[in-house]
Formats: sequence, C-alpha cells, structure tokens
Amino acid sequence: MSFRIPRGTVDLMSGEVEKWQYIEDKARELCRRYHFSEIRTPIFEQTELFQRGVGETTDVVSKEMYTFLDRGGRSLTLRPEGTAGVVRSFVEKKVYGEPQPTKWYYIGQMYRYERPQAGRQRQFHQFGIEAFGATDPALDAELIDLGWQFYHSVGIRGVKVALNSVGCSTCRPRHREKLVAYLTPHKEALCKDCQTRFDQNPMRILDCKNEGCQQVTHDAPRMVDYLCEECEPHFEAVKENLDLLDVEWFLDTRLVRGLDYYTQTAFEYILEGQGGHAGSLGGGGRYNGLVQEVGGPEMPGVGFGLGLERVMLALDSQEVKLPIAHGVDCYIVSLGDNAKKRSVLLLKELRQSGSTAERDYLDRKMKGQLKAADRAQARFVAILGENELEKNQIVVKEMATGEQTTIQLDKLATYIREISGKDHS
Ligand code: HAM
Repeated sequence: MSFRIPRGTVDLMSGEVEKWQYIEDKARELCRRYHFSEIRTPIFEQTELFQRGVGETTDVVSKEMYTFLDRGGRSLTLRPEGTAGVVRSFVEKKVYGEPQPTKWYYIGQMYRYERPQAGRQRQFHQFGIEAFGATDPALDAELIDLGWQFYHSVGIRGVKVALNSVGCSTCRPRHREKLVAYLTPHKEALCKDCQTRFDQNPMRILDCKNEGCQQVTHDAPRMVDYLCEECEPHFEAVKENLDLLDVEWFLDTRLVRGLDYYTQTAFEYILEGQGGHAGSLGGGGRYNGLVQEVGGPEMPGVGFGLGLERVMLALDSQEVKLPIAHGVDCYIVSLGDNAKKRSVLLLKELRQSGSTAERDYLDRKMKGQLKAADRAQARFVAILGENELEKNQIVVKEMATGEQTTIQLDKLATYIREISGKDHS
C-alpha cells in the first residue's frame, strides 16, 4: 500500500520552509513593535462555537468544515478560521475583566473543505490579529496599517486596501429593507447561492463574484448610505486615520466578507494583477457583537486574517528574492581516524560560537566529502588530515574563491565566526 498526502494539503520542505520562517519572523517582529502578543489556541474547538460565532448560513460553516465526533461523542471541528477560538479564549479566561485593550496575534493552520486550486487549500495558514476592548477607529486603522506594512516588509508591491462599512444592528435593517425591495424583481436572475442568500443574508449578494449577480446589484442600495449616527462618524474616522498613516485604500461598497460577525469596518487586502481569489490576500474587520455571542459581556473587537499561501504566491509571481542565508558557514573535511575524532569536538566548538557547521558521517573519501560540502553550500571547508593534526593546525578554504589559509586548530571557531560576521560573544 502506498500512502499519499491528503488532497488540498502540502509538505513544506527544505528550500521552501525557510521562506515560511522568514515571513513568519517578519510578522512576529511587526507584532512586537505594534505591541501585540501571541496567543496559541487549539486547532479544534466545539463545533457549536463556529456555528454561533462565524454563522450557520455562511459557506464556511455550512459547506466547508471538517467536523467529527471524538471518542467521547463530542462534536468537534478543525478551526476554519482563527477569530472564533481566540474570542472563546478571551471569554473563557475572563480576559475582558482585565484593563483593555487586549492585543493578540496568531500564526497557524486553518482547515476548510474547499476545492483546491492556486491559493486555496484545505489546510492553509493564516497570520491573524485580534484586538478587543476599544471602539477607537484609530485602532481599526492601526491594524489595517499593520497588515499593509507586513506585505511591504516581505517585499510584495502593489497591495491596496478595499474598505467598506457594513454597519451595525441599528442601521443594517434599514438597508436590508431597501436592498430586498430593490432585488425582489430580479430574484430569478440571481445565482442559486444568492437565491438562498436572498432569504438569509441579502447583503452577501452584493459581493457575489457571479457576473449575472454583479449586473443585478450594480445600482443596488449601498450600506454606506444608510449608516447610523454611530457607524457613520466611525467610518469617516477610520478613513481619516488611514490617510494619516499613508495607507493606500479605496472604497469598495460591495465588500461584505463571508463571515457573519462583522460590524462597521470591513476590509480586504487586494493585490493588483493577481487573478481570482489569489488576489484577495487577506481581510478582516470589526466584530462588536461577537464576544457577547460567544457568552461574554458587550465588548468590541477588530482583527484580520492574512492567508500565508497567498503571500507565497505573490512573492513568486513578483519574483521577490527573500534574503535567506542558505548553506553552512563551515564544513569539516577530516581524513583519518584521529582527525575524524577531533572533528567531532571542532564541530561543537563551531556551533557553540554561533556558526552553522556540518561534517561527513558516511566515511567518505576526500573527494566525496568535498562534494558533500558543496551540496551543503558551505562557505568554507576546514580540512583536517593527520599531518595538520600533528602540527595542531587546520586548512581553511573559501569555496567561492578557492583561497586557502592555514590556521591554529583551536582558533578555527573564532576565525569562522569573525569572517562570517557572526560574533555572538
Ligand atoms: P477570511 O476572509 O475567511 O477571514 O480568511 C482570511 C484569509 O485567509 C483570506 O483572505 C485568504 O487569504 C485566506 N484563506 C481563506 N481560505 C483559504 C484557503 N482555503 N486556502 C488558502 N487561503 C485561504 C477570516 O478567516 C477571519 N477570521 C479574518 C478576521 C480576523 N476577521 C477578524 N479577525
């Protein structure tokens, strides 16, 4: 029997995984500067959390969840997104009782049973931010800016922020009424999904990608024209703050997003020229009712989730070369039993002093060891034969130039550390 990787998942291996580490490091560093701390919640949660939190009628919950019964008969679901679990933790640990705001970030796997294609997998990764306890529109703008900076920091160009306000429970019913009245004569022209949405959540028809639906909704009533006394100035202030921060944003009155918890601010990071959903790099918004929905007190929240596979696709399509150091600083080539024995300690000394180092474990001859050094992309090889050992010396050769020098054996670690600029002392 031969085993195969599950559909819609990938193995990230050497060559690729370093890029992931690089962009994850960038995300962590930005979060540190913006004073967000990391939260790690479980990969699976009670199914009901997503049903209540994300919304029973959303595609994510109704069609895409990995749900299973555990041996105790509990219904659990692999998290399709990060917000619900983070809010559950915020409520369960009563973090709402502490001085606010709470500013958290996470990086991790999410699961959605979708048809796999470029930028869409069944197991994928998100870098997410959630901030609780403040309605200040400057906070919305701050984290929109954080996400925008993130794309810049890894080298992606041309990211714009699509921005909308989806209002709140006060102003949405007025818009809904007008929208339903507008759509009713066109109901037959809508796609099948939108006919269902018509009854459940007509606002979602506005961001259907189906051409027929887009034609129908072209002149439909816009939520931004119905914002209430609270939502309207909030939205204006978000825009002002984004201008202040020099974020490139544009108004997209059709932007609704696919999860039910959003109130007021909704946004998406769009990459120009990247077709299909791969061009939608990430998104988020406010969710002022979610903490209460999950059993907590009234407490506002705002956040985003950025798909990291889409970051990788964007980096590839823009041919961005990440500054990743490949290869080891020093590969020890040893000839003869005594030299081999000494190389064990030499290797440890090199590593302890902060250099990356490797040696041969397969008893290869000189030529084979040099080839292995080449494969390990070694910057230097240090050659130790019986002759050198007797004199307490070692030959160091720079692979790129072929330049060779002989140094004292006990100076090797210091020499390599200094020459490769890795002074960790
Ligand atoms: P979302 O729009 O459902 O929002 O997902 C955010 C991002 O995750 C998408 O823009 C996309 O980049 C990526 N993504 C989603 N599904 C897939 C997939 N199947 N394969 C690859 N990438 C995917 C949320 O998940 C919200 N929790 C974001 C949020 C946080 N809102 C407030 N706080």
